[in-house]
Amino acid sequence: MAKLLRGFRDLFEEEAQKLTTVEKAARSVFKIYGAKELRLPTLELKEIFIKATGQTTDIVQKEMYAFEDGGGRLVAMRPEGTPGVARAYIENNFQENPLQKFFYIGNMFRAERPQAGRYREFEQIGLEYIGNASPAADAEVILMLKAIFDKLGVKNYKVKINSIGCKECRPKFREDLIKFFTAQKDSLCEKCQTRLEVNPLRVLDCKIDGPKFTQSAPKQILCPACQKHFDEVKKYLDGKVPFEVDPCLVRGLDYYTKTVFEFQADIAGAQNALAAGGRYDDLIASMGGPKVPAVGWALGAERVALASSFEEQKSKTIFVVSVEESANNYAFNILQTLREKGLSAQGGLFDKNLKAQMKQANKINASYAIIVGGNEVSKNTAVLKDLTSGEQKELSLNDLLANLEGK
Ligand code: HAM
Repeated sequence: MAKLLRGFRDLFEEEAQKLTTVEKAARSVFKIYGAKELRLPTLELKEIFIKATGQTTDIVQKEMYAFEDGGGRLVAMRPEGTPGVARAYIENNFQENPLQKFFYIGNMFRAERPQAGRYREFEQIGLEYIGNASPAADAEVILMLKAIFDKLGVKNYKVKINSIGCKECRPKFREDLIKFFTAQKDSLCEKCQTRLEVNPLRVLDCKIDGPKFTQSAPKQILCPACQKHFDEVKKYLDGKVPFEVDPCLVRGLDYYTKTVFEFQADIAGAQNALAAGGRYDDLIASMGGPKVPAVGWALGAERVALASSFEEQKSKTIFVVSVEESANNYAFNILQTLREKGLSAQGGLFDKNLKAQMKQANKINASYAIIVGGNEVSKNTAVLKDLTSGEQKELSLNDLLANLEGK
């Protein structure tokens, strides 16, 4: 009965800490770039994702946790953050001050087939830069992501970029692809055969069919405005981050226009997209908002943590032991004083004997034990034991604190 759902996880200390480290790195970069936090609800009207993420996407067709709530509304656990940000932007009348840079940190839900680095509940850290149509904005958000990866010591990652054009130039590309793939429908995988008509761009990044057609598939011919935009993005990025132009990078969400990008790395046996995003100049208007351009990304916090090489900070814990009932109160005061001084201290197992208390100190990998009995109470001292070297010395309480604060 007490069983975890498939694809969901309990994250204990070590893994939770890694996510916190990724969040901290991201927050420090957001501060430098002037992005403001936006906490979004987990549940939204299902319609929002159908409209924004796209009716024909895998996310909406197969992966959403959607249900009817008690009030008969069709709702969904958010599979991604961008539609919620767009909704919040529209509802809160940012028209007055259209230039906004938001970031969000939160769990997303997708009923995908679980595997290493792919979960049904996962954390995204996302950034949405709304109101800036300049290619400088595309470059800026990509460089923010790079700054976060650098802070975390993520190495050997690749930045892939592409432009998928706009309302003007994409329909022609779509048609060319439909024509091209229809002619070889029989050689497509089952999934691509069904999505060929509705989303032919997706065939290009299908793991099975994509590589077969990389060379031969028709290429996107960008309209002059999209070409200029893309050329400028590349120019802004030049020399600041190594990137590859990948004409097969198309992304699985419907709202993108012009620039799309992905940060990829090989993490042993796991999914390789660490972060991804792009420009979405038509989304906000298509959801009933003002015509305002936007560009953004989201990183998968678990995947980025897997690829990071940060050193974990192990805090030194002090374990306070009382060997006699008459010293319990004295020991408890020491324990609290240490904590008030900002030191990591544990103990308080005063109903146990010395041996059992020391055993617990070892179990939690404490660096020091402070041991007190009636003798120490009468002299206002304590015994400080270094649990690594085994060395111990008796110190006055003042010296003890000075000693530990310096460690
Ligand atoms: P996405 O590519 O669907 O884009 O997801 C972004 C990142 O979330 C992925 O690169 C990956 O690291 C992580 N991710 C996705 N699915 C899973 C999963 N099942 N388990 C673990 N990690 C996962 C978006 O969601 C867009 N909203 C990004 C964006 C923001 N575009 C513009 N603004």
